[in-house]
Amino acid sequence: MDELRIGSSRREVLEFLSQKVVAVWEGFDQARESEPEITLEIKKLLSEELPRFGTEATDSISQSIDILDKSIAQSRPRFLAYIGSSGLEVGAIADFLASSYDINQAVDNRASTLLEEQCIKWVAQFIGYPYPFGFFTSGGMVSNLTALAAARRSALPDSRKVGLNTQTAIYSSKESHYSIMRAAEILGFGSDALRLIDVDDHHRMRSSELEIAIERDLAQGITPVAIIATAGTTLTGAIDPIEAIANIAKRFGIWLHIDGAYGIPAAGTKMAPLFTGMHNADSITIDAHKWLFVPKSCSLLLVRDLTSLSDTFSHEEAYMPHDEKKPNPVDFTLEYSRPLRALKLWLAFKTHGADAFRNAIEFNIELAQMTYRIALEHPEFNVLPYAPELSIVPLQYAPSGRSDISWLNATLCKKLIADGRFYISPAQIDGQTWLRPCFTNFRTTKDDVHALFKVIVELGREF
Ligand SMILES: Cc1ncc(COP(=O)(O)O)c(C=O)c1O
Repeated sequence: MDELRIGSSRREVLEFLSQKVVAVWEGFDQARESEPEITLEIKKLLSEELPRFGTEATDSISQSIDILDKSIAQSRPRFLAYIGSSGLEVGAIADFLASSYDINQAVDNRASTLLEEQCIKWVAQFIGYPYPFGFFTSGGMVSNLTALAAARRSALPDSRKVGLNTQTAIYSSKESHYSIMRAAEILGFGSDALRLIDVDDHHRMRSSELEIAIERDLAQGITPVAIIATAGTTLTGAIDPIEAIANIAKRFGIWLHIDGAYGIPAAGTKMAPLFTGMHNADSITIDAHKWLFVPKSCSLLLVRDLTSLSDTFSHEEAYMPHDEKKPNPVDFTLEYSRPLRALKLWLAFKTHGADAFRNAIEFNIELAQMTYRIALEHPEFNVLPYAPELSIVPLQYAPSGRSDISWLNATLCKKLIADGRFYISPAQIDGQTWLRPCFTNFRTTKDDVHALFKVIVELGREF
């Protein structure tokens, strides 16, 4: 069908695109004065009916870029909300290449299958996990779900066939990401099976409470399925005491999963001692689209033993012949159609080298420490009573004489977003609303940190 080819104008279209993308990337190097408003023109474009006939590719590409420019992009240096990714340029190129080849990683694809295996090995090496096995998934949510499915099959070998015919328990801290709760719901454990273990004053799981909870469950005939240690919590970046938790997991013979979606890339830096005990994990979630800077979506689940995944997911399908009894990648993963997400990380490591990633992570941590110090010394700010270990720094604008600090910061956060010079998300910590700048963008600088304080104080003083 010639109608679906760009055809003779391919070169022209690609040259047009490359010029546009260079300008887009140059734009990402700086912050914008404000976030964009949706213009009437864009509104009109986005309410058009389904086009029966096409337009020139260069015109529709220009329109796509206009729409993207009127969207909130995390790639800019002053986007400090959530735990953002930063659209690493070679990662974007890899996405373009991977979609062009449109490989499906469900089956053995020769070179691209080896590339995924190699990249898994590189990531294991980067963070210092001794088992170079696993697969790429769409995100931390899916990596955590996959790990808990494997833990379920390990604790209850018949569960794939008969479902859950016994009471079960899963353990994570009160500060764990809600993907754990979702996985408990989806996998049939039910949210009541999730034991949310109390945290200490650094927001880390109290391992003594974990032990008590497991003993209580065992005494009641409840089957423990998995312990989840969070290595970098979403709210404050706390790292659970992995070694103590790993010892408990070992003693009771329980699957240990580390949710390192955000924080575990820091194990590849001088912060490695914070992750001691990690080698005991049965599985680890890492989001490369968080602190390895590549565009969404790109997560990995590393496992100690690959058969734990094939025991969980494999099926004999007539239309998926196995090559010499070697299982297909789909026999290890939840997804069937699976793009070559590994390429963006592979190309990123090849182009920049692992040290560039270590340096960028360490610089983000330096920015977080600098932010903490400035806020600590500033009379109009509250901080937590301990410095950040990773790169999230909860702050409250707290001028003296005000008793409504939580309300003030919730309102200030909305005002900051409306102002548009920074993009920040709020967080509820110990029942209070805090501003929660999170440094995971390699484009953010020390000047951006100074500007952040200037803008918060300027807007805060208007109350
Ligand atoms: C600790 C943790 N786990 C899991 C997730 C979910 O990851 P994703 O958004 O990639 O699904 C997040 C997201 O922020 C997270 O912080």
